[in-house]
Amino acid sequence: MPFPETRLRRLRRTAALRRAFAETRIDPAGLVLPVFVKDGIEGAHPIGSMPGVAQHDVASAVDLARRAADVGVGGVILFGIPEVKDQLGSSGWDPEGPVPRAARAMRDALGDELVLWADVCQCEYTDHGHCGPLDARGQVVNDAAVEAYVRDALTYADAGVDVVAPSGMMDGQVGAIRQALDGKGFEDVVLVAYAAKYASAFYGPFREAAESTMQDGDRAGHQMDPANRREALRELASDVEEGADVLMVKPALAYLDVIADARSTFDLPVAAYQVSGEYAMVQAAAERGWLDGPRAMRETVTSIRRAGADLVLTYAAIELAAGA
Ligand code: PBG
Repeated sequence: MPFPETRLRRLRRTAALRRAFAETRIDPAGLVLPVFVKDGIEGAHPIGSMPGVAQHDVASAVDLARRAADVGVGGVILFGIPEVKDQLGSSGWDPEGPVPRAARAMRDALGDELVLWADVCQCEYTDHGHCGPLDARGQVVNDAAVEAYVRDALTYADAGVDVVAPSGMMDGQVGAIRQALDGKGFEDVVLVAYAAKYASAFYGPFREAAESTMQDGDRAGHQMDPANRREALRELASDVEEGADVLMVKPALAYLDVIADARSTFDLPVAAYQVSGEYAMVQAAAERGWLDGPRAMRETVTSIRRAGADLVLTYAAIELAAGA
């Protein structure tokens, strides 16, 4: 029935009505906070391009995880910055590296209060900053990179993480990691596939945070072309076939159509990563007084949820959970 019988404004009149009829909510349990753990530092070292975000030593990372758990944040995803880097990125699978040490300390301190995730990639561990060993042309060697990811994933599983999340966009990485985990008795470790990860300008600030700036070249030879939507469905389908438990789309805000496609095409849980540049652009504009930072952050994460993401990885997880 048209106006005047139907008045769509009725459900918007008060804050209580709007709250009752909101179709999408930000549930703290569905938020995952990225945590940077660095060897050889003390305490927390702020990251210039990501106000409110820091690199941490293990004790400080545990404190941060505690704060996240206290406001109901569902999980943390660990990124490590080692003291020593080499061509292969062999510190990635050092059991005394920053990620395994932080994972064990968080488990000791927090038990199962938080879901512990580990990002699996070599870019923080190689001296050239690429996601695996390079060939003569400077391209990452697919199968050698996958071998390294398998070693990383086994190390993190052994340290007790609940979730491993390979982010290198090598072909076959999900199947190889699943098989290796199962072969070593880690059949309960969850595998979240960064299934549709684009070669994005929005990773800029992360590379300062993770100290993974490439000496030269780019990641366009393995990460997806931002122009492609149908190809994302092929990436997602192949990770489902290889045994992914959860599908991730990354970045989030510029790829809401891909999140919606993932949601409508597959029945697996869908995660989306609101990446460093998405966070930084809101913070930068807010610092200048050009927009209301907390409102803009809430609106963008709501839109990511509305597009179909069950889980959102975001640097604003604590603030969002505290205000939720
Ligand atoms: C790779 C990885 C990256 C991010 C998460 N995992 C960087 C890249 O692919 O270059 C980016 C996350 C962000 O920008 O917040 N280990």
